[in-house]
Amino acid sequence: MKILVTGGAGYIGSHTCVQLLENGMDVVVIDNLSNSSEESLKRVQEITGRSLEFHKIDLLERAWLDALFRDHQFDAVIHFAGLKAVGESVQIPLKYYRNNITGTINLCEAMANHDVKTIVFSSSATVYGEPEQVPITEEFPTSAYNPYGRTKLFIEEILKDLYVSDKRWNIVLLRYFNPVGAHKSGKIGEDPKGIPNNLMPFISQVAVGKLKELSVFGNDYPTSDGTGVRDYIHVVDLANGHVKALEKLVGKTGVHTYNLGTGRGYSVLEIIKAFEKASGRKINYNITDRRPGDIAECYADSDKAHRELNWKTERGIDEMCTDTWHWQSMHPKGYE
Ligand code: NAD
Ligand code: WQD
Repeated sequence: MKILVTGGAGYIGSHTCVQLLENGMDVVVIDNLSNSSEESLKRVQEITGRSLEFHKIDLLERAWLDALFRDHQFDAVIHFAGLKAVGESVQIPLKYYRNNITGTINLCEAMANHDVKTIVFSSSATVYGEPEQVPITEEFPTSAYNPYGRTKLFIEEILKDLYVSDKRWNIVLLRYFNPVGAHKSGKIGEDPKGIPNNLMPFISQVAVGKLKELSVFGNDYPTSDGTGVRDYIHVVDLANGHVKALEKLVGKTGVHTYNLGTGRGYSVLEIIKAFEKASGRKINYNITDRRPGDIAECYADSDKAHRELNWKTERGIDEMCTDTWHWQSMHPKGYE
């Protein structure tokens, strides 16, 4: 199978390229490198001993997309490309709407023009808003509280409309919970620009001495220890979910929605402890106010992906922390 991977130089995309190549698929990556570096793709090729094709293309440039589809016959597209910082999306919503939504429309138009109708889209647990209970199944109501979340929700709806209009489309919506960790080799991993927004990269930068201390956003939630609970999933397990989705669903039309999580929640304090154990470093932290917009608890019911895709996670919290630390300690400055 020949797969187009948009945003393939990024964190989840690069790990997915490794798994695709290792499963014998041919990979073409497009990325505008706005939040990534081409170095990640060099390392993907080092890890796998296979080559992939890279084009620096922005999804907002329709003409380049058409040329790409003219030159290649793709079996499917995995669509990671997008902006993902929640806080920034509140500050500059139009940039998020243009990049994520217009970018996806351009991609789908190019796909339709060249008769490529299988797309796997990176959605997010953020589309469940503030769930009334946990674990969360795919049938839970959806909502969004910030422009980033709304781009995910709108894109899901746009893709569903596409299927209604033309039943030859095959749409796979993968709703990721909290991706963390890195490839075992330590060659690729998460490399956030500036100060990280997410918990795991923040902790690992405290461990490596780049940041002084972690702010724990609130310890008065109705959870076991008062801190927020999330479903952290190893990025390699997540990447494998994409391979399984392609294996099971290419050729099957419809709209297929799956949660990709472990089904188990960990609190912020549990993550700190697990990271201290994995790294042998002390994580300095300080309890502060809640972060606006945060929810108390969020974890997945991923039985549907298990049943229908034959996918399950294999890596637990210790491995998530060990692999994050391996990458961070080998590359304190990321890909720089
Ligand atoms: P990332 O920023 O590392 O990767 C996204 C890639 O897309 C980057 O390489 C960036 O340069 C590229 N890109 C952005 N806009 C583009 C455009 N217009 N044209 C071409 N390339 C463009 O992020 P990630 O963590 O790997 O996330 C991948 C996808 O998964 C995103 O859609 C994100 O919203 C989604 N997601 C991420 C998480 C998470 O916590 N990391 C959770 C749920 C969903
Ligand atoms: C996890 C927990 C924080 C940082 C975000 C997006 C979501 C999805 C994944 C893309 C929470 C606490 C965090 C810190 C802290 N992305 N925390 N101190 O908020 O679950 O989800 O990333 O789709 O859309 O909203 O992840 O890693 O930011 O936070 O105490 O410095 O860690 O309060 O309980 P979140 P996170």
